[in-house]
Amino acid sequence: MTVKAIQHPLIQHKLALMREKGISSKDFRELASEVGNLLTYEATRDLPTETVKIESWNGKTLNTQKIKGKKITVVPILRAGLGMLDGVLRLIPNAKISVVGLYRDEETLQPVAYFDKVVKDTKQRTALIVDPMLATGGTLIATIDLLKEKGCKKIMGLFLVAAPEGLQAVQEAHPDVDIYTAAIDDKLNDKGYILPGLGDAGDKIFGTK
Ligand code: URA
Repeated sequence: MTVKAIQHPLIQHKLALMREKGISSKDFRELASEVGNLLTYEATRDLPTETVKIESWNGKTLNTQKIKGKKITVVPILRAGLGMLDGVLRLIPNAKISVVGLYRDEETLQPVAYFDKVVKDTKQRTALIVDPMLATGGTLIATIDLLKEKGCKKIMGLFLVAAPEGLQAVQEAHPDVDIYTAAIDDKLNDKGYILPGLGDAGDKIFGTK
């Protein structure tokens, strides 16, 4: 697994704004989308391209580079992942969307999928999972399990903030998945929140607190 913490100044600046106490839901939502957009740019850097002949503006034939194959499905994890979705789609407007929702079983404490609507041609697509917070890694691991069961072969994850504990868990369970994050923070607290983190990203995006 490669973990890339993206040090771009725009990303760091926007993340700093998101960490401030009292940020409005509107600002948080806009910034989550903008950072999602910038992370997408980084994560798609190595997508394979192929040479395609086109007829150009003056009638001449030109060899150009286009992305090869069936391309991408974006996988927002409900509900907070929806806050990064439009930022991703602004760069990849033709991507198909596969939505996944999970809850935590109170007895086993394991994440269980209560909703999944995944594109049919997962085998030919790169999945770009989006979720603001990679905390314990449990939800991400379950989402990757689900996508692999459906035949998905290439999976990447985009996060605003990741905890070292979650990164390690994902590395152990799915060493073939690449992670792009705007920050790797210090640790989880005893409630599973990332420190210093962003607080509850879902509540901030949806204005439910
Ligand atoms: N989910 C959040 O919204 N915040 C955290 O810190 C961890 C999980």
